Amino acid sequence: MHPVVFVAKAKLIELLNKGLELEHQAEAQYLSHATLLTGETADTIAARLTEIAGDEHKHAGMFRDCLEILDAAPSIKMHEGHPATGTMNILKANLKDERDAVDFYRTIVAELNNSRAELPYEYEFIEHKLRHVIMDEEEHALEIRTLLGE
Ligand SMILES: [Fe+2]
Ligand SMILES: [Fe+2]
Repeated sequence: MHPVVFVAKAKLIELLNKGLELEHQAEAQYLSHATLLTGETADTIAARLTEIAGDEHKHAGMFRDCLEILDAAPSIKMHEGHPATGTMNILKANLKDERDAVDFYRTIVAELNNSRAELPYEYEFIEHKLRHVIMDEEEHALEIRTLLGE
């Protein structure tokens, strides 16, 4: 095949690696924020943020799986985090990040669909993982909204 055929796949790999870097950040950020909470709700919310961090850890693994099936090296970088102080600000910062992640991952799904012709034996594998991750981020956003009392 002509090399130009693989342009969409190269773009997909780039976006999957950005997703992996976002997951590295998300896990580290939740674990960091879990230590910074104060007040009566601190332990409850810290437990919830730590649990979400575990999901982000699994998501990083799913992005690595997607990169592996594409024969691409997974990134070892981390997206820049969003520091926050105070329980409300911490929850708001993470709610924004969850929503931004959903938006960004939908752009990866769009790129995946652009690349479909180049992925005869990989498409469903990647599509399933991305759908799983997006569903989890939507659930995280809901849980944080609940913690915020929204
Ligand atoms: Fe995630
Ligand atoms: Fe999340």
